[in-house]
Amino acid sequence: MTILNQIRTVGVVGAGQMGNGIAHVCALAGYDVLLNDQDGERIDGALKLIEKNMARQVGRGLIKQDDMKAALPRIKKAAKLGDFGACDLAIEAAVENEEIKRKIFADLTPVLRPDALLASNTSSISITRLAATTDRPDKFMGVHFMNPAPLMKLVELIRGLATSQETYDTALSFVESLGKTIANAEDFPAFIVNRVLQPMINEAVYTLYEGVGSVEAIDKAMRLGANHPMGPLELADFIGLDTCLSIMQVLHEGLADTKYRPCPLLVKYVEAGWLGRKTQRGFYDYRGEKPMPTR
Ligand SMILES: NC(=O)c1ccc[n+]([C@@H]2O[C@H](COP(=O)([O-])OP(=O)(O)OC[C@H]3O[C@@H](n4cnc5c(N)ncnc54)[C@H](O)[C@@H]3O)[C@@H](O)[C@H]2O)c1
Repeated sequence: MTILNQIRTVGVVGAGQMGNGIAHVCALAGYDVLLNDQDGERIDGALKLIEKNMARQVGRGLIKQDDMKAALPRIKKAAKLGDFGACDLAIEAAVENEEIKRKIFADLTPVLRPDALLASNTSSISITRLAATTDRPDKFMGVHFMNPAPLMKLVELIRGLATSQETYDTALSFVESLGKTIANAEDFPAFIVNRVLQPMINEAVYTLYEGVGSVEAIDKAMRLGANHPMGPLELADFIGLDTCLSIMQVLHEGLADTKYRPCPLLVKYVEAGWLGRKTQRGFYDYRGEKPMPTR
């Protein structure tokens, strides 16, 4: 892996599970990283988590201790977006909410150099529409990492209508320099992975809602019956139920087909603030020694 000349410094907006994973991967590949979040404590938490996750990779022999020692100081806390002037590429990885993402781009673009590239890690929202709200739709791309970013091989690349070939080529080389494999997806709601995955998860929630199976039965059935490494409800908790619901809403609105209607039970969990692992409760309760189903 060689780092690109055009891109030396990567800014990451949002230090949640995806933002910290993206920062981790970029730093290990040799890029300088600026990590921002609206909540400063989130950045501190992310820096600690990155260290812990890298140490785990060292323990498993996936990376060397020296790689970790070199990578950690490359990640710097950026308390405000105003610190992003040095970025060659900024990747937005904040919550899956179009208004919030638009606001971030509005605040970020005046700070970025005119030649800097801008990417969103959105799971579902139109890249063309997000790009059109910025001053650089030709330099805007969808770069969709999978969760957890340090372990998952795939990154989806999504071109907006106005994305230039040069932007695409740079994004492709950048993602390959991280040791990832790409899949190209057209800019339609939820792209490829979540267009297929989220209706399956939503259907699993309907299966629970209608009493066809319990949480444990549904997950066991899909693990052992379809050979999925995780059951769909475990996976939903891992992704975040707020993110799953947002993606279903984008599919429902964007494709105007009732087959994508979000399950009312998924809505209820999100309304309760039971968002999965990140809040310790979702379809399972993670506060005890082992996860316990909540229904
Ligand atoms: N969870 C997944 O499995 C997954 C996978 C691929 C892509 N994504 C996408 O990545 C993005 C982030 O998802 P996540 O799972 O990391 O969410 P998360 O809830 O773990 O983290 C989101 C972070 O964004 C921060 N944030 C909110 N508003 C902000 C603002 N205005 N400025 C800066 N930071 C702000 C929050 O404080 C939080 O730390 C979403 O677009 C999501 O669709 C998620």
